[in-house]
Amino acid sequence: MVKNIKLIVGSTRNGRKARMVAEWLQKQAKDENYDLEIIDLRDMNLPLFDSAVSPAYMDVDTPEAKNWSKVITDSDGLVFLTAEHNRSIPASLKSAIDYLFKEWEGKPTAIVSYGFIDGGASATNHLKDILNWCKVNLVEPNVALPFTQDTFDSNSGEIADADKSFSEHREDFIKSLEAIENA
Ligand SMILES: Cc1cc2nc3c(=O)[nH]c(=O)nc-3n(C[C@H](O)[C@H](O)[C@H](O)COP(=O)(O)O)c2cc1C
Repeated sequence: MVKNIKLIVGSTRNGRKARMVAEWLQKQAKDENYDLEIIDLRDMNLPLFDSAVSPAYMDVDTPEAKNWSKVITDSDGLVFLTAEHNRSIPASLKSAIDYLFKEWEGKPTAIVSYGFIDGGASATNHLKDILNWCKVNLVEPNVALPFTQDTFDSNSGEIADADKSFSEHREDFIKSLEAIENA
């Protein structure tokens, strides 16, 4: 277990649940001796992608883009954590992917989604399409964490008991990390 695997938090909106899900995943990984680093797109400070030329042809020349590029380049594998917003991935995640191109090629990558409808499986399908185009090395299984009304504490609105809500999917998540490790 030596690979440097980074978990990318795709939703950056105010009031998001993404961070709690990410921290639950990080704990599950830690319990199996995986040191999963959380990369929160909120901390990357990437404005909406607006370059004149595709990064397939020319790198984006801003400090934030260079930092983002280095974060991805310096990883051995990735876990994309995606929310489902209107049946797809959050705009913040799509924009961050668009910032880079060569960095994605061949990167062993797993996908974890969460949401009310099929645990965000539609977002995963869209993300797979995007990442296949970017030539990442997608591994399986994909993990879809189901949200229901019971997932949330009625007072705080936060995830009440992540173990109770998501533990059924823990094994698949660990398998996806193993697949990255073996890729
Ligand atoms: C703009 C928006 C669109 C949404 N669309 C969907 C959807 O298509 N499918 C779904 O299962 N949940 C949808 N939801 C509910 C989200 O699953 C839920 O809000 C979840 O917490 C989103 O992740 P986040 O809080 O990390 O952004 C949507 C939420 C927002 C804010």
